[in-house]
Amino acid sequence: MNDIIRLIVDSIIFIFPAFVANAAPVFLGKGERWNAPIDGGRVWKDGRRVLGNGKTIRGFVGGTLSSMIVCVLIIALANQFSYPLALMTYIEQGLLFNILNPLGIDFWTNEVFLGLLVGFFLGCGSLIGDLAGSFIKRRSGLQRGESFPFMDQLGFIFTALLFVFPVIPWPLYWLIFLVPLTLILHIVLNLGSYIIGMQEVPF
Ligand code: CTP
Ligand code: MG
Repeated sequence: MNDIIRLIVDSIIFIFPAFVANAAPVFLGKGERWNAPIDGGRVWKDGRRVLGNGKTIRGFVGGTLSSMIVCVLIIALANQFSYPLALMTYIEQGLLFNILNPLGIDFWTNEVFLGLLVGFFLGCGSLIGDLAGSFIKRRSGLQRGESFPFMDQLGFIFTALLFVFPVIPWPLYWLIFLVPLTLILHIVLNLGSYIIGMQEVPF
């Protein structure tokens, strides 16, 4: 595979669990159980909700767990098909320095543990960025579901990448691909769900 394409594919595979964490809450059902809002219904000094009803404990926990499961699967498949995943190459070559190395745990050889760990940080990071976004939206007077261009589409990838960095120090130049690709993906997914009738407006 062409080197540049491989870099792009690697970066997308790496960030994929963060996308899953961000998207999963929407599909996790709308039942009453566990639908408690994270802010507990509390109101900020400005009289508006801290985060709003769109941020639930279920969405947060479910999104993080989904990210962990998907990350374990990705790493398992990457090995099975020797998929060109930079992450695996780094690990195999022992090139990674990370916060866990000084503990002397040889956990890189345990793929399930690695997947759970990386998936946890990507998922939590993604959803904490999502919460921060809602906080900023409420402070700006936007209602639940109203859009805040760029922050809605991109905010979560920055926090996900930040949170996972101590575990996997991903190459910073990945941002050159990931930022435009995330915006393109967002546009394609929205148009797609509009065309198949899942959404009333294209954006
Ligand atoms: N969701 C959730 N818990 C979360 C994040 C999302 O339950 N932590 C669910 C909610 O049903 C939410 C939907 O996923 O309405 C879409 O998520 P998002 O677009 O992030 O929320 P909005 O409803 O647009 O709210 P906000 O304006 O605060 O972003
Ligand atoms: Mg929204």
